[in-house]
Amino acid sequence: MKKNDQYISIKESRRIIRENIRQMKYYEAQKRKPRELSEYTAPMRSNDNLIEIDNLKTCFFTDNGTVMSVNGVSFDVPKQKIVGVVGESGCGKSVTSLSIMQLVQAPQGQVVDGQIRFNSGELGQTEDGRDIAYDIARTPTSEMYRIRGKDITMIFQEPMTSLNPVFTIGYQLDEVSFLHTPGISKEDARATSIEMLRKVGISMPEHTYESYPHELSGGMRQRVMIAMALAGDPKLIIADEPTTALDVTIQAQILELLRDLQKKQGCSIMLITHDLGVIAEMADEVVVMYAGRVIEKGTAQDIFHHPLHPYTIGLQKSKPMINTDTNEPLYSIPGQVPSPINLPNTCYFRGRCDKCNKKCAGPYPAGVQVSDTHWVACYLYENGKEENQ
Ligand SMILES: Nc1ncnc2c1ncn2[C@@H]1O[C@H](COP(=O)(O)OP(=O)(O)OP(=O)(O)O)[C@@H](O)[C@H]1O
Ligand code: SF4
Ligand SMILES: [Mg+2]
Repeated sequence: MKKNDQYISIKESRRIIRENIRQMKYYEAQKRKPRELSEYTAPMRSNDNLIEIDNLKTCFFTDNGTVMSVNGVSFDVPKQKIVGVVGESGCGKSVTSLSIMQLVQAPQGQVVDGQIRFNSGELGQTEDGRDIAYDIARTPTSEMYRIRGKDITMIFQEPMTSLNPVFTIGYQLDEVSFLHTPGISKEDARATSIEMLRKVGISMPEHTYESYPHELSGGMRQRVMIAMALAGDPKLIIADEPTTALDVTIQAQILELLRDLQKKQGCSIMLITHDLGVIAEMADEVVVMYAGRVIEKGTAQDIFHHPLHPYTIGLQKSKPMINTDTNEPLYSIPGQVPSPINLPNTCYFRGRCDKCNKKCAGPYPAGVQVSDTHWVACYLYENGKEENQ
């Protein structure tokens, strides 16, 4: 009889649970261990970067086995730039951003390897002039409280889940000021909150200040979330599908607002979306993820005008275009993403790729730098340019 890969015997299930408990205890104990500053700091590769993610691995210990949600991800977020992270559902975009915030659901979810260097600008430099950064993957929780919400903030897809329905907008905005500016008076906090609401384009900020979240429209709530995210003058804003819940006109307004504020405040944005149109409008640099890995990265120009990886090319083809023949069905990439448990040691896109050849049976392709800015992980570009197989 054919063995069913989905089936787990009781014995196997017990073994997985025992192993999970052991692993979770180990990683939780690591987090609680007192650490010297030198153990959770590291020099930046380039002082122009705000974030450098190197070989990040984040997994979830589930009863079915270990889910490798983020499996060796590396990319940079340069200072004052917008980096778009794109990929289909479940490819690890949110888990990557939650890892940066140290907000992965513990104890099941753990960062198990890699570095997330955050150039806060306050830790000095090495002898050879490189900025010293926090390695968020090892930074103690107590230290992270200072960074999170002030230096790095996050805007989520559905603001209603982040705003508390029982407090007014004003109360929740004032809280942010109390947190970031200890000792600030109630009147000053109110004035700051109203100013923040004005900054994000709310026309009657005094009125909105007194309102409860349910009294506002979706677009207004997302503006309030942006106001909150900007309050501490952050260096990085992570926007995870910030406009997916909004209609197209409001989406355009919110994106424009984000871009304007980013320019004015001089911060960086990591913009996560599955919408290539949004990325094309906004991003300076683009990271394409597939099944927990980065498969291509480059400038927006590289990715939109010279996409290399067959998955990126497929993504572009599946984007609805106004000027194409409306009778033609929208292209969709055939097949499915492999299960994140027991991923094969071959290219993960192999089962869906129309350019697959005999080389692709080899181990997972190493990345290739095809130009100063453009990187791809695919056997077709092993020698830095596309090979005719
Ligand atoms: N709490 C969790 N427990 C177990 N697995 C999880 C958990 N959170 C995420 N995962 C898994 O991690 C993988 C990556 O999830 P993630 O949420 O990062 O995807 P995503 O790229 O943000 O997708 P989407 O576009 O749908 O938001 C998925 O396979 C998901 O099932
Ligand atoms: S390595 Fe091979 S299978 Fe994978 S994307 Fe490239 S051509 Fe396709
Ligand atoms: Mg997500």
